[in-house]
Amino acid sequence: MKLHFCKIWFLLVLEAKLGEENNNTPFNLNFFQNDYRVIPHHVELVRYNKKFVNYIETRSFKYNRTCAAVNVTFQLNFNQNNEIHAVVQFYKFLSNEYRYFPIRCAVNACKALAANVMGLHKMLECGNFTRCHGQKGKTYHICNWTIDESKFPPRMPRGSYKIELTLMYHEEEVSVINAFAEILDLQP
Ligand SMILES: *[C@@H]1O[C@H](CO)[C@@H](O)[C@H](O)[C@H]1NC(C)=O
Ligand SMILES: *[C@@H]1O[C@H](CO)[C@@H](O)[C@H](O)[C@H]1NC(C)=O
Ligand SMILES: *[C@@H]1O[C@H](CO)[C@@H](O)[C@H](O)[C@H]1NC(C)=O
Ligand SMILES: *[C@@H]1O[C@H](CO)[C@@H](O)[C@H](O)[C@H]1NC(C)=O
Repeated sequence: MKLHFCKIWFLLVLEAKLGEENNNTPFNLNFFQNDYRVIPHHVELVRYNKKFVNYIETRSFKYNRTCAAVNVTFQLNFNQNNEIHAVVQFYKFLSNEYRYFPIRCAVNACKALAANVMGLHKMLECGNFTRCHGQKGKTYHICNWTIDESKFPPRMPRGSYKIELTLMYHEEEVSVINAFAEILDLQP
């Protein structure tokens, strides 16, 4: 029952927000939550398209006692990275496998970064990808990237999640990256 409520709530919120974006009104997915903790586990690069990406490497590592962080090094093979869309799909671990969870959003990646959606600004703090400006043939390094859990959607069901990030350039896939994280109550 509780889960059902969440599903409806998320769909309403996301549809409302994405509807706004389509009308070119200010972009807004500015969540705030302080009811749970997020423990990032690791990141895996699933695949990338050589047509758009010369090179990409993700390396997740233990940042401190509880958190993982990630370093990303990449080189793009085209200049229009402000036209990349990010499709984010959540999967929740249930009965031994990751199952579809009804949070999915498709946003312009640079706009999402500029708007600090889900705390994405943290990816600009270390390394030389300091704004959304990747130039063809140049290598960029993002380091010590952790999440900002306060910017996550409120009232997420506790559990383990896989977050599948698909980067798209118009109708073509650029890259697919999976991130794994756990959502826990604030105090054990
Ligand atoms: C680990 O690092 C994260 C991100 O900077 C921080 O929020 C968290 O409090 C740290 N945890 C510990 C145990 O130091
Ligand atoms: C990134 O983390 C490494 C340790 O993993 C540390 O040596 C380095 O100083 C950090 N860099 C920045 C800019 O936070
Ligand atoms: C960014 O940093 C990486 C590694 O530190 C370096 O190889 C690369 O040339 C730098 N890129 C730019 C555009 O300065
Ligand atoms: C991540 O990048 C930082 C900064 O370039 C570096 O100090 C650290 O060794 C890297 N960590 C890993 C696991 O590659």
